[in-house]
Amino acid sequence: MTTLGTPLSPSATRVMLLGSGELGKEVLIALQRLGVETIAVDRYEHAPGQQVAHHARTITMSDAAQLKALIEAERPHLVVPEIEAIATPALQELEAAGVVRVVPTARAARLTMDREGIRRLAAETLGLPTSPYRFCDSLDELRAAIDGEQGAAGIGYPCIVKPVMSSSGKGQSKIDGPADVQTAWDYAMAGGRVGPGRVIVEGFIDFDYEITQLTVRARGASGEIETHFCDPIGHVQVSGDYVESWQPHPMTPAAQAESRRVAKAVTDNLGQGLDGEPSGLGLYGVELFVKGDQVWFSEVSPRPHDTGMVTMVTQWQNEFELHARAILGLPVSTALKSPGASAVIYGGVDATGIVFDGVDEALRVPNSEVRLFGKPESFVKRRMGVALVHDADVDTARTQAKLAASKVKPRTA
Ligand SMILES: Nc1ncnc2c1ncn2[C@@H]1O[C@H](COP(=O)(O)OP(=O)(O)OP(=O)(O)O)[C@@H](O)[C@H]1O
Ligand SMILES: [Mg+2]
Repeated sequence: MTTLGTPLSPSATRVMLLGSGELGKEVLIALQRLGVETIAVDRYEHAPGQQVAHHARTITMSDAAQLKALIEAERPHLVVPEIEAIATPALQELEAAGVVRVVPTARAARLTMDREGIRRLAAETLGLPTSPYRFCDSLDELRAAIDGEQGAAGIGYPCIVKPVMSSSGKGQSKIDGPADVQTAWDYAMAGGRVGPGRVIVEGFIDFDYEITQLTVRARGASGEIETHFCDPIGHVQVSGDYVESWQPHPMTPAAQAESRRVAKAVTDNLGQGLDGEPSGLGLYGVELFVKGDQVWFSEVSPRPHDTGMVTMVTQWQNEFELHARAILGLPVSTALKSPGASAVIYGGVDATGIVFDGVDEALRVPNSEVRLFGKPESFVKRRMGVALVHDADVDTARTQAKLAASKVKPRTA
């Protein structure tokens, strides 16, 4: 049985979000609706989620000492990582010491914080299909990995190079031939999240489409952990960053079954607790490439996924509500409400305290909604908002969502 308390009282159920961007903000709102006391942590002040939480804290989350000190001072019931750049070994320590429960598990946060942990788990431990890959620490190693050496075949061309620690396509580029290798290496070195870096080089998968398979581990009536699947979310990525998503994406029954098999294998493993016991409650975003009936695992977020923002208009319980419910041990439903689509609204300018013209125009698009995240600082390519549209079919919803997004015009104040 789950018991929830009263916020700001001694009985409060307290949840700390590590990372309070647009995704964290929606998780916080979902938690608030269940009367949970929330603590929003980010590296800068007035982050979107901090604006809707009971408490806001600003620390460097990649600094183990700062992170431990904050968790020990606040003693939340749950710690929910919402970004990858966190001192995850500190979370593992605190979890092992019984100080706190980490969502879905500290191990999942650690394995998915860089591309190597999760790729080796999926491909080598679980034997799931992935693109061919190699990890490299220098330009020479990268050349050898692509071109092959000592009789061994290389990854070949085209291929994709990514810093092992990066997200949203940062430092990522496609290599079409030997002339591009140096540029890709330099770009990856400049774009990685931490110091002189390691990269993954992956064979290019010529997929028909890619999806996010949102997968929820939640408690059933008997206390057992059950796996629930949302309808597939299709999306378009430009330079490794999501610009548009929709749900449901049509799939063949075989591709759908294979997607769910892969998603279950990954989430079952990431959901294992310290003693190998099933735990790891929460929602996961499993990124998959699909060609015909063939499916490749790409990566997974052990938390709501940016492409899943579309579920705010397509599901009865959106991905943030699903995460909030699941982590609290509550039942979930992944049922679809309507087909729909999302389109990203970029900042378009580098400035603080910007304004948005045309929100009225955007909302005149039938069945539309707009979310403005409230980020204090805008960059040309920073995601500042999203337009959402539900409609009878996905194609119409996509067209209308892009139309609504285009009506919102950010500018300096
Ligand atoms: N091996 C590959 N073959 C073909 N396309 C790829 C490959 N790897 C990545 N891509 C494309 O680049 C996109 C971003 O790659 P990936 O998800 O690995 O990076 P990311 O920086 O973690 O992005 P995000 O944080 O937005 O998920 C993918 O969604 C896909 O469109
Ligand atoms: Mg990705």
